[in-house]
Amino acid sequence: MSQAASQAIKLRVVVLISGSGSNLQALIDGVDSGDLPIEIAAVISNRPEVMGLTRASKAGIPTLVLDHKNFASREAFDIELMRTIDAYTPGLVVLAGFMRILTPAFTEHYLGRMLNIHPSLLPKFQGLHTHQRAIDAGETHHGVSVHFVTAELDGGPVIVQARVPVLPTDDAGLLAKRVQKQEHVIYPLAVKWFAEGKLKMTNGKTELNGELLAENGYQIEANDI
Ligand code: GRF
Repeated sequence: MSQAASQAIKLRVVVLISGSGSNLQALIDGVDSGDLPIEIAAVISNRPEVMGLTRASKAGIPTLVLDHKNFASREAFDIELMRTIDAYTPGLVVLAGFMRILTPAFTEHYLGRMLNIHPSLLPKFQGLHTHQRAIDAGETHHGVSVHFVTAELDGGPVIVQARVPVLPTDDAGLLAKRVQKQEHVIYPLAVKWFAEGKLKMTNGKTELNGELLAENGYQIEANDI
């Protein structure tokens, strides 16, 4: 295939961030290495001056800040965010540490074409402070999930999970580090599946390679701690 033809079929992706953007970096690295057949069309942050915006600029990706503090309501912010995203005509929207609760109109608009990464083995530990909560609950294993986004917060169908052990010496910071290493493996993997047309949401479930996955999605056991 000519270079022009291979570029023409690349999936356009808009990435939403609020902070450090290490998951965004994993996607950028995947594109740079030729492993991820996507074009990151834009990176949008709801917070100004975050590290993720610097990462995007360094990679030559257009960036935008849409500060939620400038909007009177959650609905007004989400409407403007949809307008901003759609101007880039993405085939996929990737939430990468985007710390916002989304309105149902927003999640409905991108249903089946928006992914999120959540640092727990969903459905366990939805919401915040997942690492400390896993330690406090005496879990022997913890991990990270990539899922389709639906109206239910951290509740959409799981695509892939990576499991890591919880060690007796762990604190939330150490455990978060072990989990983050896996985040940077499974997020590019899920995006790649989607870009290759292997992954979709069917009747509220995850379909991978033509088969519906069980509730916990595709399982990856991380040996490397
Ligand atoms: C990650 O831990 C992710 O699981 C959660 O937010 C964090 C984002 O980190 N949703 P980064 O901005 O990608 O470094």
